[in-house]
Amino acid sequence: MSSTTVDLVISGGTVVTHETTFPGSIAVDKGRIVAVGEVAIMPSARETLDAKGLHVLPGAIDVHVHFREPGYTHKEDWETGTAAAAMGGTTTVFDMPNVEPPTGTPAALALKLEAAKKAYVDYGIYGLLAEDNVDQLEALIEGGVAGFKCFMGNTFGNLPSPSTGAMLEAFEIIAKHGYRISLHAETASIMAWRQKKLMAAGKHAPLDHLAARPAVVAIEAVARAAILAEWTGARIHVLHISSADELRPLREAKARGVDITGETCPQYLLHDTTDYARLGSIIRVNPPVREPHHKHALWAALKDGTVDMIATDHAPHTPEEKIKNDIWTADCGWPGVETQMPLMLTAVSEGKLSITDYVRISAYNPARAWGLHPAKGAIVPGADADIAIVDLSRTDTIEQEKLASRSKITTFHGMKVKGVPMHTIVRGRFVMRDRKLVTAAKGHGQSVRRIQRMPTPRPMNVDQTMASVLGRTTT
Ligand code: NCD
Ligand code: ZN
Ligand code: ZN
Repeated sequence: MSSTTVDLVISGGTVVTHETTFPGSIAVDKGRIVAVGEVAIMPSARETLDAKGLHVLPGAIDVHVHFREPGYTHKEDWETGTAAAAMGGTTTVFDMPNVEPPTGTPAALALKLEAAKKAYVDYGIYGLLAEDNVDQLEALIEGGVAGFKCFMGNTFGNLPSPSTGAMLEAFEIIAKHGYRISLHAETASIMAWRQKKLMAAGKHAPLDHLAARPAVVAIEAVARAAILAEWTGARIHVLHISSADELRPLREAKARGVDITGETCPQYLLHDTTDYARLGSIIRVNPPVREPHHKHALWAALKDGTVDMIATDHAPHTPEEKIKNDIWTADCGWPGVETQMPLMLTAVSEGKLSITDYVRISAYNPARAWGLHPAKGAIVPGADADIAIVDLSRTDTIEQEKLASRSKITTFHGMKVKGVPMHTIVRGRFVMRDRKLVTAAKGHGQSVRRIQRMPTPRPMNVDQTMASVLGRTTT
């Protein structure tokens, strides 16, 4: 080892894994980590980064972003979205299919993959699972999706929710290939019923959005999806968990052996109903921000492993689209890929989580759930050199005007943070250095399907008659 010269040595920092922290240096060559250990055993390097006083983490893997291209590039595009990721210490993102055209056919997927060529960071693309594209799912897998997204409830893009019948067949098809299905788990019909009544009664205040979407919509959807997953052997993931109530069907499904994972997002950990008066329509998001007891339950669930990971639901919109007098006309969500790491490191500094907890929920668990481990989410020899180097003692204030995202409106504006990513490295290349975007690294990002180890399918449960009708074999 010592006779060869490698590309980069990151020396003298504190390495953080999902289990432990230790003083150590990291050697990187040809995009991969080649050695981790004491500085004395490091090979000679063309470049050295002094990480003294800094912590060296696997880059965050954010499995829930909306980069809006093609179709809504006035809100965001692949260049601005992945620049925001790079600035936030995030080295892999999974992009959602509610663009225009929606990512539900191989032709639409090809447009998305073309747009993604501008990416600074690595990415997975979600294929859409809808009522009318069940016959396209295998072609989407062939075309390179990293997983699927099913909108069980109405949200931005107004994509209709599939019937439970279509979902069951889609789950059977996807289970055969081992891909994970991410769920917007809110039941559409309950929300439509309630919103219609609220609107007829002239209700249009920010909190009326919460009244239209009580936690029962999420409990019902999580439980129903878990039943379909159990029946078919499909892997599923519950997006943006917002309530204490959803934790029960999540825990129960895990106990039954369903391959189910869940994420929550900073907005559900840091906001609650007391913020509606201050933020007005800006706080409109699906699912809604809820009463304070939910956020306490979500912190505990992240800590005890019930909720597997943190994602952001990065949902950029313009200020004009967010600030409305009538809550039903305000677009839902706000950008988050750039602020997740400082916000969560602040929680680490406050003792809500340990730094190893943070690596577990931001990198290690997402990599495992999507079949990327150990290539990603780990600081071990052989892994991709996807690294966030952070200063845990640095303080900052989130300012929306300064975001790299095209969207300059966030509920986190003005929040004080302690813990800031200083450098971001994707497969050995700096994409952010000293808090500055490395513009020359535009286009460095790659689809994770190139490195993904194919998940092993779980056994599925298709009865003989349906199997012959559907043209499939039972297992
Ligand atoms: C998301 C968006 O804007 O694309 N909005 C949101 O409120 N979360 C859609 C979604 O994730 O439901
Ligand atoms: Zn959603
Ligand atoms: Zn989303």
